[in-house]
Amino acid sequence: MLRTHTCGDLRAAHLDQTVTLAGWVQNRRDHGGIIFIDLRDRAGITQITFDPDICGPAVHDLANKLRSEWVLQISGAVRSRGDKTNPNLATGAIEVFATALTVLNKAETPPFEIDEHAKVGEEVRLKYRFLDLRRPAMQRNLILRHQAVKLARDYFDANGFIEIETPILCKHTPGGARNYLVPSRVHPGSFYALAESPQLFKQLLMVSGYDRYVQIARCFRDEDLRQDRQPEFTQIDLEMSFIDMDDIMTIGEGLVRGLWKKLMNHELPPLRRMTYAEAMASYGSDKPDLRFAMPIVDLSDWAKDCGFSVFQSAVAATDRPSHAGRGVVRALNAKGANEQLSRRTLDQLTEFAKGLGAKGLAWIKVAAGAEGKLDWQGPAAKNISDAAREALRVRLDVAAGDVLFFGADVEKTVCSVLGALRVELGVNRLGLAKPNDWQFLWVHSAPLFEWSEEAQQFVAVHHPFTAPYAEDIDRIQTDRGHVRSKSYDMVLNGCEIGGGSIRIHDAETQGKVFAALGISAEDAQRKFGFLLHALSFGAPPHGGMAFGLDRLIMLMAGAESIRDVVAFPKTQRARDEMLDCPTPAGDRQLKELHLVTAAPIQAKA
Ligand code: AMO
Ligand code: AMP
Repeated sequence: MLRTHTCGDLRAAHLDQTVTLAGWVQNRRDHGGIIFIDLRDRAGITQITFDPDICGPAVHDLANKLRSEWVLQISGAVRSRGDKTNPNLATGAIEVFATALTVLNKAETPPFEIDEHAKVGEEVRLKYRFLDLRRPAMQRNLILRHQAVKLARDYFDANGFIEIETPILCKHTPGGARNYLVPSRVHPGSFYALAESPQLFKQLLMVSGYDRYVQIARCFRDEDLRQDRQPEFTQIDLEMSFIDMDDIMTIGEGLVRGLWKKLMNHELPPLRRMTYAEAMASYGSDKPDLRFAMPIVDLSDWAKDCGFSVFQSAVAATDRPSHAGRGVVRALNAKGANEQLSRRTLDQLTEFAKGLGAKGLAWIKVAAGAEGKLDWQGPAAKNISDAAREALRVRLDVAAGDVLFFGADVEKTVCSVLGALRVELGVNRLGLAKPNDWQFLWVHSAPLFEWSEEAQQFVAVHHPFTAPYAEDIDRIQTDRGHVRSKSYDMVLNGCEIGGGSIRIHDAETQGKVFAALGISAEDAQRKFGFLLHALSFGAPPHGGMAFGLDRLIMLMAGAESIRDVVAFPKTQRARDEMLDCPTPAGDRQLKELHLVTAAPIQAKA
């Protein structure tokens, strides 16, 4: 070993010991002859002191030449820093007076300082990821990730789960996320798909009798990327047999309770449960952020004769196709926000709503008027009758200082507009979400199907293997939009951190669901024949879920982006800046893979 201790080890208890440390130069300070180096490794920082009277002129001369990020080995005695103790450093009580110094390697001047507080553009950070990962904040994130995975493995092991790996090179399955394809050299013109999740394999494992499966699984999805999405990401994936919804939810809850207790020092209460219908109605979202209240209130009956034509016509319209949903008027009350929401901000919020498909955003500012009355201001206020105002006051619990926002449209649009507005107000504009407030909940029983405007047909909300409620099966024929599924998502502070469902375990129900999704019997055979076949050989009732590990760690670490908890992430444009990839393939490779690209592409050497 090139060292006796790490740079985070030494304390007053080590005084007068001779030690050897190795690490990187964080910085060098020259105090008139005495040189101080902060030496850094993964464990911490130790101050190294080069006093010419102690280390001799040769070592001192060499110490003078040291630069940031050079790699050193130093030996010397541990001394007390006396009244110069640095309370911000775990090793702050001591320093090492060097007597020997070896430069293990020099370093070019890094493009940014390896410092907690260095404000560096993300592109540069990702290009020099190997340097970025030296930053203590990044190291903390990756260590936290390691600890969480270790605890998860132990937790599932203790509960009788076994970890089984499943293939990454799979078969393309329709529905779900867009797949990455891998051309087969051996089978010209044919492709593997990279697994978007182990879903089908874990169901097959249930048929095989491995009744408690878990896997820390890498998944691949060619999706549009956002702060909380990566093209390859990791799931804590599990599946169980002979269970119902409640059992999976209990197991999933046990995992996060353990993680929060051991890694966040926080005791979680039993998780709240909410149906999908309730979440959509009250929060306009299937992943409500419950760090603040601000519920959405339905005013459709009130709107019929409120006096404001925009609202009245929204609920009266009858010319819509049945799957478009009914017209509604809903509102939320930003309590006491009058001062914080200027006219300019309200204009911005109106644009924000329009960006989400709203035709407008009616608002009312409520101030204290004369004689203890309320003064209602804003474009919607003047048209609303006195009686309707009084009803509104009661329904929205209106007081002076409140700002009310209204959505009038088909239900789906109003939900998504007011749902997003609620988060924009609560989190970004009014700062109602406090740090270290962990608001977990389950959102369960989503519809099995939803209408897709794009596809002009019903599509699966989760995936096509999700079981319907037994009592809703007949509706698959008669009322497709109102079939509830045995599904559940775990939500934390407005982020979906996991989800799953009870699966269909008989080929007959599976066939009905495929048919409802417009997948013909022949198509189903061709695409999912292996699953249907397996279900007909004694499949047990089963179900499971998957946690998004990256999202979970992002929230635990308080990171702003999922990329801060992944060692080597892709950018928003799905590129690896460090590897400079993807890259075009060379002619020989293309030929070997029997591929022709549409546009002539210059292959990089
Ligand atoms: P689902 O598609 O909901 O379910 O994925 C489960 C969880 O994985 C996370 N996640 C992602 N994280 C980062 N980047 C992405 N692109 C990404 N996509 C999803 C989310 C999500 O909750 N097989 C089913 C699970 C099951 O039914 O058992 C599945 O994959 O946190
Ligand atoms: P208008 O009568 O179109 O000038 O709109 C009056 C107010 O109602 C404006 O503040 C609009 O932003 C708002 N508004 C218009 N259409 C809608 C709608 N569908 N939902 C909510 N507010 C709307």
